[in-house]
Amino acid sequence: MTDSINAEVISVYPDKVKVAVDDLNSFRLAEEHLKVGSYLRIADCDDVVLVAVIDSFAIEVKDNGDRKYIIEASPLGVIKNEVFSRGGDSIAIPPKKVEPAKISEIEKIYSYGLADKEKFDFSQLSHNCGVRVPVDGDKFFNKHIGIVGSTGSGKSHTIATILQKATSQKSKPYEGLNNSHIIIFDIHAEYPSAFPSSNKLSVDDIVLPYWLLNSEELEELFLDSGDNNNYNQSSVLRSIITQNKKKHNPDVEKIFYDSPLKFDIEEVLNCLINLKSETKNSKAVDRYMIVGEEGDVENSSTTAESGIYLSNEEKLNMYFSKLYEFRPTKASNVTKGDYADGTLDKFVSRFISKYKQDRLNFLFGTASKDISFENTIKQFLGYKENQEANVTIIDLSGIPFEVLSITVSLISRILFDLGYNYKRYASTKGGRQHDIPILLVLEEAHKYVPKSDLARFKASKNSIERIAKEGRKYGVTLLLASQRPSEISETIFSQCSNFVAMRLTNPDDQNYVRRILPDTFGNLTSNLSSLQTGEALLMGDAAILPSLVKIDVTELPPSSSDIPYLKVWKSEWKNLDFEQFTTQWKS
Ligand SMILES: Nc1ncnc2c1ncn2[C@@H]1O[C@H](COP(=O)(O)OP(=O)(O)O)[C@@H](O)[C@H]1O
Ligand SMILES: [Mg+2]
Repeated sequence: MTDSINAEVISVYPDKVKVAVDDLNSFRLAEEHLKVGSYLRIADCDDVVLVAVIDSFAIEVKDNGDRKYIIEASPLGVIKNEVFSRGGDSIAIPPKKVEPAKISEIEKIYSYGLADKEKFDFSQLSHNCGVRVPVDGDKFFNKHIGIVGSTGSGKSHTIATILQKATSQKSKPYEGLNNSHIIIFDIHAEYPSAFPSSNKLSVDDIVLPYWLLNSEELEELFLDSGDNNNYNQSSVLRSIITQNKKKHNPDVEKIFYDSPLKFDIEEVLNCLINLKSETKNSKAVDRYMIVGEEGDVENSSTTAESGIYLSNEEKLNMYFSKLYEFRPTKASNVTKGDYADGTLDKFVSRFISKYKQDRLNFLFGTASKDISFENTIKQFLGYKENQEANVTIIDLSGIPFEVLSITVSLISRILFDLGYNYKRYASTKGGRQHDIPILLVLEEAHKYVPKSDLARFKASKNSIERIAKEGRKYGVTLLLASQRPSEISETIFSQCSNFVAMRLTNPDDQNYVRRILPDTFGNLTSNLSSLQTGEALLMGDAAILPSLVKIDVTELPPSSSDIPYLKVWKSEWKNLDFEQFTTQWKS
């Protein structure tokens, strides 16, 4: 067959090889038609072969009217003595012979590139069916992963395939679960079908303790970013919460605003309302005119002794306990308290409206008040007793939009802190390495970590950016999926080391991805818009080569599958129980 091939190398550059072919039909292997993305072998002698991937085809018409095909290809590496290595330096120039690579050679590239125990594979070459494309599993999960593609390109299926393989692999046969720990932020409630035995948390059963919110999250929740009194409000909130934490944790020596310790939200609210309505003795401003308390005199006598003397700490502790009545202001004797100027008014009403909202029960309800720190962590990690699970699916679809960012922020932060503290703990236990590394999966990542600087994304952005920057050291990595990569925070996206780039139709997104992807795959990234569903460019430091692959189809797909409209429409008219349906909707 090779004899009939009429092709020659016409130019060689470090990053490009040009090949002229007279008859394209005979320039192919029995197994496949050549396409952009197919592999060529360029040989100078029999035991050194340069492998290149086709970037483009062009047609030249010769003077006599004959056609000639010009193929441009990017060198990938060299097979020498049966072993493939990247880079194209060691080929003797000019190379004599060029032909489509043999399947056995392509297999060699992918099968010898990695030791068996390092291999993790979830796809095969798109053009050379049957050639598996493994990645280095440790490198793949050890660094952040980006999956991009327009809606319907196959991102959710890819995530399911990858995670199903990760949770089913075992180093040796043993009973029970392997040691993978995956948390999925599932915004469309589509993953339960892909992981039937997962730990599932939705707005109905998740317990998110308000007392674990940090300053940013608390402020995002309670303060109106447009309010001029924001600064005062935040400093009041800060001192009240710190003091309340001290009250409830008398044995803890150092307590800060952000310490993960319990406080009582009802008491904080009491205190705020008391502060708003307090009055003081005009002549002795640290005496408070509380009805029924020490020094309380009907009609507020004029003496400097009336009212109760309290230090700031004593006052807050007292204000926590209940709502007090204060003597009204009176000419020059009783004056308004420090916060009677309206500073706290809007804040308090906002506070009450959040705190009393049934929809936020998962944050402020009794379960949130009572849950321990330990059990909070356990629920996210799938360490529920006798119900251990590799995958925890956090269904965000029912979480009210106003608290979506702080929910994502709080959980991500807990996971980061867990990684951080576990590493420290493990090192005190005889230098053990991190043995519960975690993968956090963010579907539709542009929704929580957008480029936008808006206050309502601040909390989730900060928490996730911290994982992006430092999580790897502490065994917490991210898998980010997005249909709008150009709208994701660049800090986060640029930290990804491995990419699965699927069909992308928006030109802004294509350009962005092209810019951020490692520039080793010739022109292939210019074809992002023509990829089939389930097809992807797989690249990054865990890949043997950047490759055009077809992701394996999963047997347990996420429930994101396209609705077969026409088929459904062609069936008989369906009645809908509106009463039942709207009752559930409204609840
Ligand atoms: N690897 C694949 N091979 C074939 N079809 C696929 C593959 N991945 C996804 N699909 C199909 O494509 C459709 C969209 O997939 P999905 O994963 O929901 O895309 P996305 O999350 O990018 O919107 C689904 O109906 C699914 O059946
Ligand atoms: Mg999806």
